[in-house]
Amino acid sequence: MRILVTGATGRVGRHVVDGLRAAGVTVRALVRTPDLAAFSPEVELIQGDITDADAVRRASADADGAFLLWPSFSAEGASDIVDALPRRVVYLSSLNAGEGGVWGDVEQLLRAAGKEWTFLRPSGFAVNAQAWAGDFRSGDTLRLPYPEASRSMIHERDIAAVAVLSFVNPGHVGQIYELTGPQALTQTEQVATIARAVGKDMHVVPLTEDAARQAMLDQGADPALAASAVSYWASLVGNPEPVTTTVTELTGRPALTFADWAHEHADEFRVLSTAEVAQGYADALSAGRLDAALAFLSPDVVRSAPLESTTELKGKAAILENTRHLNADVEYLAVESLGPLLTADHFAIRFTFTQRNTRTDARSQATKLSLCTVESGQITREEVFYYTPPSGS
Ligand SMILES: NC(=O)c1ccc[n+]([C@@H]2O[C@H](COP(=O)([O-])OP(=O)(O)OC[C@H]3O[C@@H](n4cnc5c(N)ncnc54)[C@H](OP(=O)(O)O)[C@@H]3O)[C@@H](O)[C@H]2O)c1
Repeated sequence: MRILVTGATGRVGRHVVDGLRAAGVTVRALVRTPDLAAFSPEVELIQGDITDADAVRRASADADGAFLLWPSFSAEGASDIVDALPRRVVYLSSLNAGEGGVWGDVEQLLRAAGKEWTFLRPSGFAVNAQAWAGDFRSGDTLRLPYPEASRSMIHERDIAAVAVLSFVNPGHVGQIYELTGPQALTQTEQVATIARAVGKDMHVVPLTEDAARQAMLDQGADPALAASAVSYWASLVGNPEPVTTTVTELTGRPALTFADWAHEHADEFRVLSTAEVAQGYADALSAGRLDAALAFLSPDVVRSAPLESTTELKGKAAILENTRHLNADVEYLAVESLGPLLTADHFAIRFTFTQRNTRTDARSQATKLSLCTVESGQITREEVFYYTPPSGS
């Protein structure tokens, strides 16, 4: 069986890819940026945008089914995409799909197109709590709208587990699964659960409705979405999201708890030591996980590499763009590292890359030393000293 996974690099999609592979399914992923996908070589990568029907058609060729994530807040343009998908589709919808909106609209398109659909309707994702990580790291106070709003947060791995069994076991076509965590917790209780996992005290201060809406707008949210999210939170005070037993019934094991999630993700909520940052950065680069390596950089990180460019690069986006440019014709065959060598707020690692030029097939080695400055658990400056000149320079 070959399954196309859209949103494969996302928080649910990565687990869907892993789960399908573990079940012996061939996985094809539609990704916008193959450089960052960081899947094992057995995963077939198709470069393309989910809003491009031609790309979706190419990715769907020979596929027996598709896991569909529709990343937009509107279903505009989704009809052509639905037509381009294989007949069997497992769609990542939402508990709120019954009230219309983008999820209800996409479900309707899948029905109308005569697909063999399964709708996964999850409650709020536990992983949404990552939005609080910055406040956890920088202080002891979280400002939240409606701290007493109660949600049955679901672990992203449970959603993925149901997606996988919907493909590999019979009997799931035409089913709607309302998926939630095993209990509803107020936002205050969610914060306390993470605080226990991290080992620090956090105080929750209520944010006014207007301030909450403005905070979402400041983060680039659509105004209609910001308004409906805030009124949804208000409705959950004293009227918790429902709890279903569907995950347990389908998987045959208890649904994962919010505390399980908090323990797995505790490191994201505390300030890492220089040694932890250094080891994590070295491990991510050695494994070719550029996405994981970028997570250790501060948003306004500065990169200085005089042999690449006389000007310094500022910010993760500029660094990623530079990496893409340098790696355009390069396939990495092996990475060896020495270090990290540590001081209180700096570390150095020497990397030796064995690489192949994909145009000329020439093999070579490049060695460079990265000297990084770490502040508040993030890399704020990287100075790169090449022993051999960089490829592409
Ligand atoms: N969060 C919640 O509480 C909640 C609740 C119910 C339902 N949902 C639904 O769940 C979905 C989000 O799932 P998630 O959290 O796993 O996703 P995520 O972590 O936000 O990642 C989004 C994924 O979609 C891909 N993507 C985004 N725009 C794309 C495009 N134009 N073309 C191709 N790929 C694109 C991204 O790929 P790149 O690597 O290219 O960026 C990434 O793999 C949404 O549809 C949301 O409505 C969320």
